[in-house]
Amino acid sequence: KKVVLAYSGGLDTSVIIPWLKENYGCEVIAVCCNLGQPEDYAAVEKKAIKSGASKAYILDVQEEFVADYIWPTVKAGAVYEGKYLLGTSFARPLIAKKLVEVAKQEGADAIAHGATGKGNDQVRFELTIKALAPNTKIIAPWREWDLKSREDCMEFAAKHDIPVVATKSHPYSMDQNVWHLSHEGGDLEDPANAPKNDVHLVCKSPEEAPDTPALVSIEFKEGVPVAVNGKAGTPLELLQTLNELGAANGVGIVDIVENRLVGMKSRGVYENPGGAIIMYAHRELEYLCLDRATYHYKELVANKYAELVYDGMWFAPLMAALQAFVDETQKTVTGTINLKLYKGNIISAGATSPYSLYNQEFVTFEEDDVYNQADAEGFINLFGLPLKINALMKEKAGK
Ligand code: ARG
Ligand code: SIN
Repeated sequence: KKVVLAYSGGLDTSVIIPWLKENYGCEVIAVCCNLGQPEDYAAVEKKAIKSGASKAYILDVQEEFVADYIWPTVKAGAVYEGKYLLGTSFARPLIAKKLVEVAKQEGADAIAHGATGKGNDQVRFELTIKALAPNTKIIAPWREWDLKSREDCMEFAAKHDIPVVATKSHPYSMDQNVWHLSHEGGDLEDPANAPKNDVHLVCKSPEEAPDTPALVSIEFKEGVPVAVNGKAGTPLELLQTLNELGAANGVGIVDIVENRLVGMKSRGVYENPGGAIIMYAHRELEYLCLDRATYHYKELVANKYAELVYDGMWFAPLMAALQAFVDETQKTVTGTINLKLYKGNIISAGATSPYSLYNQEFVTFEEDDVYNQADAEGFINLFGLPLKINALMKEKAGK
């Protein structure tokens, strides 16, 4: 029997390898996806084998992640509960898709993951597997085994000759990729606590950021970035450039108490410097290029889209339908946005687009010949008719 395991190189997923072999009598194939988290991947591969895996795949999926998962979400303008840029959420369906591909290639009987039974990640992994490989068995050791704490895991690791690296003094549950780094747990579990200054590992704190603003210009084509400061690049390269600029200026730190899909609220601190800049710039361009009705409807779609991504519904039919709507709206979201980054702030510094609907001649307070102010009276009379009728009714009824 063969099981494909989502492997990170950390303690938990390393312990899962011998646990699976003992409890399922199977061979374990480890799959580690490089989504841009800084890691010594050669060491990860070695550790998987050392922990007992018969084979280890290291897959660099960074460009696919940015182009096929992040960019579509940017186009949608999807943000969960007004703050969370979904960094972990949209990474899970891509990882699960890769697990399914390897499972098919290897003729595996099951797929295993290291997400706990209390979080969203288990849902995201498993919904994707159900959507792409409906007959594949899923194993979630955290919901089965009796290892209750980190100490239990370390003891199990020691017994099975798994190297336990002394952990850095960062006592948070983290998840990192090229879009974000999340911190949960520890003292953050009490929302009364302000995040300590050393929580941030990617972004400078605003206090430490330079005293002069950094100027950045982002060129978009049909809703996605194509150049930064005049320099074209692949989606990954552009995001990396903006990450560096944002991080240096303390931009993109989010602190949120969010509603998990599985019922409880949780508190997280997320760092997404490039993401914050891109989402801001994209919205600025839409202000210029989308008509009122489309923009307002798109805001509704963005909320639903964010909820679907958060809930692990990436491969649901409704996602594809919403994406079709979003893509249609992005045909004219082309242009350049200039911004100032300054001590944690993103400040608008001018916008241009060949598809701009903004018309100085129409909006001017000076005299013009495109807008007849007398027309407004009739418009207001009809637009306000329901209000007038309602008020007349109340008057008549003596209310
Ligand atoms: N709360 C965020 C989410 O649900 C981040 C989760 C981070 N995951 C992790 N395994 N540390 O998307
Ligand atoms: C986990 O339990 O795997 C992380 C937390 C989450 O998914 O929200």
